[in-house]
Amino acid sequence: MKLFLLAVTFGLVSCQDLPGGVLEQDPKDPMFKKPARVAATYTDNQNQVSLSAQYGPRYEVIAASTQVVAGVLYRMTLKFTSANKRVTICDVEVLEQSWLQYIGLSGTPVCRAVTQKSLGGYSNVDSTSPAVQAAAAFAVDAINNQSNSLYRQMLIEVVRAQQQVVAGINYKLLLSVGVSSTCRNDGTTGLTLLNCPVDQRKQRCDVIVWDQPWRTPRYQLTSFKCN
Ligand SMILES: *[C@@H]1O[C@H](CO)[C@@H](O)[C@H](O)[C@H]1NC(C)=O
Repeated sequence: MKLFLLAVTFGLVSCQDLPGGVLEQDPKDPMFKKPARVAATYTDNQNQVSLSAQYGPRYEVIAASTQVVAGVLYRMTLKFTSANKRVTICDVEVLEQSWLQYIGLSGTPVCRAVTQKSLGGYSNVDSTSPAVQAAAAFAVDAINNQSNSLYRQMLIEVVRAQQQVVAGINYKLLLSVGVSSTCRNDGTTGLTLLNCPVDQRKQRCDVIVWDQPWRTPRYQLTSFKCN
């Protein structure tokens, strides 16, 4: 009996209540109704204007996760639509501590105006922007880590870049990479083409990098294909 209880407890712990673990959730789940309203209508003493007043009365949760900390941290991407159809995306966090009957905004919402198009699918972005370069550098590091090649693949350039707004941003990149026989593939990071000139096989890699700035680790390599 004791063993059974223990097993049940551990089962529950590992599925849902793992402290610190982030669980992706269905943004349509009713559990986000209250925290979404809290985030959309919150006003503090300095900033008298709520997100909803600023960006539009209509909002919906388009991505969401939960994390058990001291309470439950709801992370949501809220999409606001203004009267004249301007769309703003806000990443917000709301902390609920039910035993204190507390629910409130945690941290500062991060908002950006987006086009309706970039929400549905991918749209082109500047391949030289720092955000794209950082995602590309991460992708090449991750590809090197997964490869058992003796020598290091170096990023030559980002040929094409597209992004999609999800819970964070998906970067779909076409990278030009090549092997440098000067540098070993031993996990060293921050190498540049100056230190490690490409003198061997060049190839193209299609990669998707998921950037969630609030998460650790921040980036995930969702897919890659090199030829
Ligand atoms: C690659 O491996 C190195 C050394 O193990 C590690 O420090 C780095 O975080 C890894 N990078 C990625 C993108 O996985």
